[in-house]
Amino acid sequence: MQKKRLLTGVQPSGTTHIGNYFGALKPFVAAYGDYESMLMVADYHALTTLKDPREVRDNVLNAVKDYIAIGVDPKRATIFQQSAIPEHTELAWILECQVTVPFLMQAHAYKDKVAKGLEANAGLFCYPMLMAADILLYDTDVVPVGADQRQHVEYAREAAAKFNAAYGDTFKEPEEKILRSVAIVPGTDGKKMSKSYGNTIPLFGNADEIHKAVMGILTDSKGESPENVYAIHRLIKDETEIASLYKANKGKYKVVKEALAADIEALVAPMRERRESISDADVIRILKDGAQKARGQAEAKMKIVREKVGVTI
Ligand code: ADP
Ligand code: TRP
Repeated sequence: MQKKRLLTGVQPSGTTHIGNYFGALKPFVAAYGDYESMLMVADYHALTTLKDPREVRDNVLNAVKDYIAIGVDPKRATIFQQSAIPEHTELAWILECQVTVPFLMQAHAYKDKVAKGLEANAGLFCYPMLMAADILLYDTDVVPVGADQRQHVEYAREAAAKFNAAYGDTFKEPEEKILRSVAIVPGTDGKKMSKSYGNTIPLFGNADEIHKAVMGILTDSKGESPENVYAIHRLIKDETEIASLYKANKGKYKVVKEALAADIEALVAPMRERRESISDADVIRILKDGAQKARGQAEAKMKIVREKVGVTI
């Protein structure tokens, strides 16, 4: 039986932390082998926020290294860069012509920015149609995303339905797949771990950086068991394994933090080592191969789409 197509996108937007690992990277590694998988680095999406070209370039290379280091085999997944396939932006334009301004105004990425009193660029406004193009070009069946991206997958479905209704059956309507097996990982201050809050524990930091971040976890001095430390520890170790540690060390925050830092280090060390063995040249080769594989399908689909909308003569 033919495997279903899975496609996900990762925005190359900064240093990966253990919240990203447990919330996005680890669930992807667990699932991708069951599908015909595509992992796309969404560098055009990142341009809605990143302005430094060097940062964009470095982040693309780093995002690919992260996924390979945690166990994604480039032979078993097509790993490619969004900007390498111009059909993505081309289809995005055509989809933008199918949907209305009030529809796009309800999309989270845009709405959240405006709610914060910030000015959104037009790219951010149109972002869901670029994401829809990413998904629809490849007849994607399932799209693993975090809960925050669920609505954007619904937008892709809606765009496909609108196009199909206007021009006849062309696109497969995708399903979102929430792969999250963990709750939100708390940061060192107890709020959601996020690079925008500066409360992260870096996934590929060295032992000292991990130790420093763990020692900085805020603890409530009234409680017996430091909640934030425990919540992170539970992601790494079985409840039964750590129950006795926390019981034997009630109130001794330093001891449990030292244990957590050591456990994170044990988890991360082999991945960090693998990551260090991947060169920029390796990544560039992987992205070229991936683009080559993706391109054929994107071109074939766009040929059909161009004919349907009437821009061929
Ligand atoms: P950040 O909040 O640091 O900017 P992103 O929004 O770039 O992170 O998230 C990338 C992926 O990691 C998303 O799929 C998101 O759901 C997941 N993720 C980010 N932070 C967490 C967290 N604290 N707990 C669980 N998953 C997270
Ligand atoms: N917008 C997604 C995010 O910020 C990234 C993304 C771009 C994506 N294109 C995609 C995710 C296609 C899934 C499918 O996380």
